[in-house]
Amino acid sequence: MNLSEARIIELGKFGDRRGNLSIVEEERTVPFEIKRAYWIYDVPGGEKRGAHAYKKNKEFIIAVSGSFDVVLGDGRDSRRFTLNRAYNGLYAPEGLWREMEEFSTNSVALIISSEEYSEDDYIMDYEEFKKWREGR
Ligand code: TYD
Repeated sequence: MNLSEARIIELGKFGDRRGNLSIVEEERTVPFEIKRAYWIYDVPGGEKRGAHAYKKNKEFIIAVSGSFDVVLGDGRDSRRFTLNRAYNGLYAPEGLWREMEEFSTNSVALIISSEEYSEDDYIMDYEEFKKWREGR
């Protein structure tokens, strides 16, 4: 729930002449029980995604190809994380406003989630988000 909990987690890689391999594991590198994964790709240049907050859902975000920025905010402060290595993941706790932008050509964002998809978990309006945070 706190912005200070958001962090880049290094996954490491097994690399040899055949290329690289990186791994995510539930409750270990990914600090929650995994319920869902989805990926975002073919994002047109200049487009932004995910301007919303989740009340319960935690995320672990990996740039499996290319690069993009994730901006997380608590209604007062914000932090920008640039993801550009397939062996790093961003842990984004619940209860934060999150935007994704600056997608490079052919980038792929893999998002691992702690909750099943639920429209009710989304806050889509920034003013509503700020009120919700203040009320907690
Ligand atoms: P949306 O949350 O708007 O994407 P972003 O966070 O990148 O802005 O999701 C786009 C569409 O996909 C929307 O109609 C809801 C649907 N969707 C699902 O049905 N299940 C899911 O797990 C997700 C993440 C989205």
